[in-house]
Order: sequence, then C-alpha cells, then structure tokens
Amino acid sequence: MTVPPKLLTGPVRLALAALAVLLVLSVLVGFLWLPMVKPDFAQGGLWDAICRAAGVPASWSAPLASTDAGASRVAMVPALTGSAGGDVGKGGTLAQRCTMCHGARGVSASDVPNLAGQYSEVTYKQLVDYKNGQRRHTLMQALAQGLEDQDIRDLAAFYAQLPRPSPALAATPVPALVNVGDPMRNVAPCASCHGGIDQKPGSPWLEGMPHAYLAGQLKAFAAGERRNDGHGVMRNIARQMKPEEIEATARYYASRTIEGVRPAAEPAR
Ligand code: HEC
Ligand code: HEC
Repeated sequence: MTVPPKLLTGPVRLALAALAVLLVLSVLVGFLWLPMVKPDFAQGGLWDAICRAAGVPASWSAPLASTDAGASRVAMVPALTGSAGGDVGKGGTLAQRCTMCHGARGVSASDVPNLAGQYSEVTYKQLVDYKNGQRRHTLMQALAQGLEDQDIRDLAAFYAQLPRPSPALAATPVPALVNVGDPMRNVAPCASCHGGIDQKPGSPWLEGMPHAYLAGQLKAFAAGERRNDGHGVMRNIARQMKPEEIEATARYYASRTIEGVRPAAEPAR
C-alpha cells in the first residue's frame, strides 16, 4: 500500500519531524543525562550506564564482580542461611581460638564486632572475604587463612545460634536514615536491609555492635577502604552520609535494645 502523496503535506511532515526530535531527546535524557548524574556513574562508565538505563542484566553489560579484583567471590545463595551447612559442635570447638577477642559467648567487651546471633551467611561471607583478601584486616586475614571452607561453615553455624547481646535500654533518637532513608541522595533506609522493615540476605545484624566498630566500618566504606560489599551497596550509601549521620546511626545501632528481648540480667539492686 502506498501513502497518497497528499497525506505527506506540511502539517504531517512537521508532526513527523517533531516526533523524531522528541524521540532523540528522550533517548538522550533517559539513557545518558539521567544515568550520568548518578553517583556511581564513574564506576562502570558510559556504556554501563546506558545498559543499566535499558534494564540489561548486570552480568551481560559489565560483569562488575569479575572485573573488580576487590569484589567478593561469595554469592548469597539460600543454602548459606540457617546453619550454612555447618556443624554447631565443631564450630564451638574451633571458636575457642576466637574468644580472646570476640568474647566467650560471641559478645565482645571491646571494640571488636559481636558474632553472637549474627546471620550465618554474614559470618560465612566475611570470613571467606578475609581469607581471600577481599576484606582487609591484618589479624583477621591471618586467622581466616588457616580455616578450611568447612571450618568457616561450622563457625558460622555456631555463632548464628548464640543468643544476641541485649544492651541496656537507651533513649537514643532514631536517625531519619534508619527508617526513611533519603530518596534525594539515593539512600535507602538502613532498616530495609538490616532488619526492621526487611532483612536482605548478607546484611549483618547491627544492633548492639560496638559504636566505634560501626562508625569505623561506615567510614571505611565511604573512603573505599572496605570494598567487599556486593555491587558497592554500602560504599554507595556511606559516601552519601555526612559525618554526623555516620555518628548518629552508629550510636543508634550500638545502643539499641533488641525488640521483644529484655535487657540481659540486670545486676540486682
Ligand atoms: C586478635 C583478635 C581477634 C581474634 C583472635 C579473632 N578476631 Fe575476628 N575480628 C577481630 C577484629 C578486630 C575484627 C574487625 C576487623 C575489621 O575491622 O575488619 C574482627 C572481625 C571479624 C568478623 C567480621 C564481623 C562482621 O560483623 O563483619 C568475623 C566474622 C570474625 N572476626 C570472626 C572471627 C573468628 C571466627 C575467629 C576465630 C577463628 C576470630 N574472628 C578471631 C579480632 C579478632
Ligand atoms: C540495600 C541494602 C542495604 C542498605 C539500605 C544498608 N545496608 Fe548496610 N550493609 C548491607 C550489606 C549487604 C552489608 C554487608 C556487606 C558485605 O558483604 O561486606 C552491609 C554492611 C554494613 C555495615 C558493616 C557491618 C559489619 O558488621 O561488617 C554497617 C556498619 C552498615 N552496613 C550500616 C548501614 C547503615 C547505617 C545504613 C543506613 C544508612 C545501611 N547500612 C544501609 C546492606 C545495606
């Protein structure tokens, strides 16, 4: 079928031209301009941004995990939750090497992170990352190097079933970032991954962790010194946080009483 010539008159041509201009403009805005202003744009470059805007799965466009030598090699699979395929009894024996820093029951009195009640997949992933050098810490890297994969599973299973610390009640105000986040800065609420709203596999239990440890990790993520978080999830958030927000969220989580759990045996008065 041919288009009758009289249909391609002035107004129609104008409309078609306007449509073409509109198409080009929206492609430029949607695929280039908007992705370019995102803070993590520099990570993958232009082509990556275009692919992400178009919704191409990350593994097709830019296999970040394999090109980033610092990226974790642990994939969050359901098999790592629960007991992570570990043996609690054997884990308890292995954990005797850890008590001098992490406490006899996985709760540390110093600024070392608590392990008691930590999700098994978190303990597993962090130990594997230390072992492979994706998370840097001289002591923990040296210790993890001596552990086999099964040892790590056993330790993860052991610590997951220890009771979590229940710090004394403290009236610390809830920072806005915890439950609301800040959409303008592309910061999701902490509680949407770390529990409260939702618990995403691999996101550590933070409540009751030492304040100095939490603040230290957030600063390390912000500075890119810690980079074992999958897809830079925590680096992207911490970079957007002001120093006082790092302080406030760390203080909040450190002081938090576990919901539904009474503070641990208070000294009799
Ligand atoms: C000499 C002290 C020391 C000993 C012993 C030790 N740790 Fe640690 N551990 C630390 C410190 C300090 C950190 C925090 C390191 C950092 O900033 O990355 C840590 C971090 C960790 C983390 C990461 C926790 C988190 O929330 O991300 C895990 C898991 C862990 N240790 C497990 C173990 C296990 C299992 C053992 C025994 C095999 C052990 N550690 C022995 C000092 C120690
Ligand atoms: C989109 C999910 C997500 C959001 C939102 C999020 N986190 Fe995280 N966070 C993670 C994951 C996943 C890890 C573990 C990274 C890794 O594998 O090493 C983590 C790790 C951490 C750690 C290190 C804990 C440890 O023991 O190693 C701290 C501290 C932390 N987040 C604080 C926060 C704070 C504060 C906020 C809110 C401002 C927040 N996170 C928002 C997913 C999230």
